[in-house]
Amino acid sequence: MADGHSTDSGTGVKHKFELVVCMGTSCYTMGAAAHIDKLVDTVHQKYGERVNITANICLGQCLLENSRPPYVKLDDDIIPDATIERIVENIDKRCKK
Ligand code: FES
Repeated sequence: MADGHSTDSGTGVKHKFELVVCMGTSCYTMGAAAHIDKLVDTVHQKYGERVNITANICLGQCLLENSRPPYVKLDDDIIPDATIERIVENIDKRCKK
């Protein structure tokens, strides 16, 4: 891409990312709630309207053996140990595709 950002094929329209922050008990107690305000500010400052942020009560990952909360879901991918840095890093990677 000329501008280094992903676009939907053939349309020239930039892909809009869907970021779902898990606010279920496991993720909440492992820090999701503590960084939600900073996460929203950081993501909106860096990506503006390109990232839509919503919350979910449980992404189902905490039921897995060796789960690593807090979790977020970025489009169709689950991200464990979801610090703000890891989330931004994942969005950045997708923007460059
Ligand atoms: S509480 Fe976050 S995955 Fe279940």
